[in-house]
Amino acid sequence: MTESLTVTAPATKPAPKPAKPHLPDAQMVTTVKHWTDRLFSFRVTRPQSLRFRSGEFVMIGLMGDNGKPLLRAYSIASPNWDEELEFYSIKVPDGPLTSKLQHINVGDEIILRPKPVGTLVHDALLPGKRVWFLATGTGIAPFASLMRDPETYEKYDQVIMMHTCRTADELEYGRQLVEDLQNDELIGEMVEGKLRYYPTTTREETAHMGRITDNLSSGKVFEDLGLPRMNPEEDRAMVCGSLDFNIDVKAVLESFGLREGANSEPKEYVVEKAFVGDGI
Ligand SMILES: Cc1cc2nc3c(=O)[nH]c(=O)nc-3n(C[C@H](O)[C@H](O)[C@H](O)COP(=O)(O)OP(=O)(O)OC[C@H]3O[C@@H](n4cnc5c(N)ncnc54)[C@H](O)[C@@H]3O)c2cc1C
Ligand SMILES: NC(=O)c1ccc[n+]([C@@H]2O[C@H](COP(=O)([O-])OP(=O)(O)OC[C@H]3O[C@@H](n4cnc5c(N)ncnc54)[C@H](OP(=O)(O)O)[C@@H]3O)[C@@H](O)[C@H]2O)c1
Repeated sequence: MTESLTVTAPATKPAPKPAKPHLPDAQMVTTVKHWTDRLFSFRVTRPQSLRFRSGEFVMIGLMGDNGKPLLRAYSIASPNWDEELEFYSIKVPDGPLTSKLQHINVGDEIILRPKPVGTLVHDALLPGKRVWFLATGTGIAPFASLMRDPETYEKYDQVIMMHTCRTADELEYGRQLVEDLQNDELIGEMVEGKLRYYPTTTREETAHMGRITDNLSSGKVFEDLGLPRMNPEEDRAMVCGSLDFNIDVKAVLESFGLREGANSEPKEYVVEKAFVGDGI
């Protein structure tokens, strides 16, 4: 008689899966939306301890090929009450960060250094009647935050968002954001009659055209919106665009008598660069 031999595997625990390496200051991507072939927005989890003033920016990025964090300044596009953080980004074809960042997916991690700073904050302006948000391209990001912050409507009777891009598709992120705000159950009432949206294009024929500098200098925007000419008693402004735009719009604001302020010395307008460099 042959003995039957039952071989049972020794009782061992299954080997643990190798843990996904965590990035330092890692946050998880929760949403990604591509607006054009050169613009996208995404949302990430918010570190519990992160407090910021709407309009500020932080350093975000990915781990570089050399094993060191590759970080860039990004305006937080979501308001300070939001549970998540939103960013609105360019895709620079050969850009060290955005050539990779544009491929992020839900569930991926990015690095976010939780040290918000910036000049486009309410504290840097003296009280006024109206606030003008003046942006080109991705410079709308800090205003995407400020437009969604109830404090903006508590502080001002009128909020004017001027956004200029070359083409209409580049305005779409801002256009949808304003539309969603106006239809929002909570903030919609607060925004009603106060938020005026003035988008223009410069290189595609649309209903409203022209550079922000030209529409201010010629007085066209004041005529179109039925507002008085900008003046230092009533008007405040926040500016975010390319270096050339910032320089030119500052001269226009100064011609209306507005003076540049800062966190430490609030005045009538403040400026921040939307990016560093001359162009892609
Ligand atoms: C205070 C501050 C806030 C910023 N906030 C944002 C933001 O909210 N969203 C955002 O997309 N970028 C923002 N930037 C620019 C950002 O820091 C990076 O430059 C951008 O992400 C590109 O990174 P990169 O490594 O791919 O290319 P980089 O080497 O950083 O840039 C390469 C070139 O691309 C051009 N470029 C860079 N950024 C832009 C842009 N946003 N629009 C048009 N051309 C650009 C410039 O000519 C630059 O020289 C901000 C910059 C500063 C200083
Ligand atoms: N947008 C595109 O389709 C596109 C595509 C490929 C590459 N790029 C490159 O990407 C870089 C950034 O492009 P961008 O379109 O985001 O930014 P941008 O060149 O700064 O233009 C954004 C808007 O700001 C206006 N503007 C520029 N300088 C101004 C000034 N000094 N005063 C007032 N308004 C001013 C532009 O008007 P004007 O049109 O009158 O200049 C445009 O409507 C550029 O180097 C560009 O060559 C852009």
